Amino acid sequence: MKVLGIETSCDETAASVVSADRMILSNIVRSQLNEHAPFGGIVPEIAARAHVSTLDHIITEAMDTANISYGDLDAVAVTAGPGLIGGVIVGVMTAKAIALGRNLPFIAVNHLEGHALTVRLTDNIKFPYLLLLVSGGHTQLLIVKGVDSYKRLGTTIDDAIGEAFDKTARMLGLSYPGGPAIEKAARRGEIGRFILPRPLKGREGCNFSFSGLKTAVRNTIEKLPDDKIIEQNINNLCADFQNTVAEVVGDRVANAILEFKKYCPNGTTLVVAGGVAANSCIKKKLWQIAENEKLRFIAPPRELCTDNAAMIAWAGLERLKNNLVDRLDFAPKPRWPLDPNAPVMPYAGVKS
Ligand code: KG4
Ligand code: ZN
Repeated sequence: MKVLGIETSCDETAASVVSADRMILSNIVRSQLNEHAPFGGIVPEIAARAHVSTLDHIITEAMDTANISYGDLDAVAVTAGPGLIGGVIVGVMTAKAIALGRNLPFIAVNHLEGHALTVRLTDNIKFPYLLLLVSGGHTQLLIVKGVDSYKRLGTTIDDAIGEAFDKTARMLGLSYPGGPAIEKAARRGEIGRFILPRPLKGREGCNFSFSGLKTAVRNTIEKLPDDKIIEQNINNLCADFQNTVAEVVGDRVANAILEFKKYCPNGTTLVVAGGVAANSCIKKKLWQIAENEKLRFIAPPRELCTDNAAMIAWAGLERLKNNLVDRLDFAPKPRWPLDPNAPVMPYAGVKS
């Protein structure tokens, strides 16, 4: 079985062909970084236009690289939400057209399910497992019980973790995306020069909060005399910011592991996914916690942690095997929680 996956929900235009025997036959990703960089963040309208002008070329490249024709496909899978709706519509309409034209099953994939199931493509992990999903738009702790079956243990009550990295980087005059820029600067900095709050650390539950930390960084910068806003201060502040985030994440994950063990006594694995999973400091913290708790820790390779279409093709395959095929009138969803029973956070994603 082979599935074509399409991803256009954020600032990557991507297409990939994956087979049921866990082979990635192609994985083409075109980043729009250069289009958005001058604005210090993603501009939804620019993203949607860039998807329109490049998606068909990316799909052709994915099919050519996989060296197959449309007749060899068993389904078309596409991110149908959550995400920037203009981009999601571009992907969904394209996938529907291919499905209709080639008489193929159409599979609407939740982008978060793509991230959640990647580890089954890369490492053949069995259900259930505990997942920390950390990206520019999402910060969630989930028990992955099965395909289409999730229990959310926690999420952010305000900013997403990657957003906190990006906004902090912007305040410090660093480049976009902020995560890699902060990690690089932090390597030259020293921890302990600044006092920053640890939002929700030591509190019950598995939720996250980052907006207070962001404000604390802003206040710290404002208190520095003009002549003190020198590179070493920026490096030190990055080191403290990154270390603080890792500490908070560690605290929340430790609580989630306790809940996971209660809920799934036979669960053995902690998985991290999403762009922020590239951060070595956070990964080190997670690795230590997993070791203390006698859990296996897995982080998929970087190129499969950040947005890509192989994860969408794979989630499509998993859904196809479970007969979860969608109708061609499926409406794209800007918001689409993996766990429909999880409470809505009224201030999450509110720009500040
Ligand atoms: O998963 P992703 O590629 O896109 C989505 O948001 O869906 O994640 C992008 C986010 C950005 O906020 C970026 O700053 C962050 O991941 N990021 C990092 C690192 N690399 C990327 N954050 C911290 N440390 C990194 N090394
Ligand atoms: Zn993502």
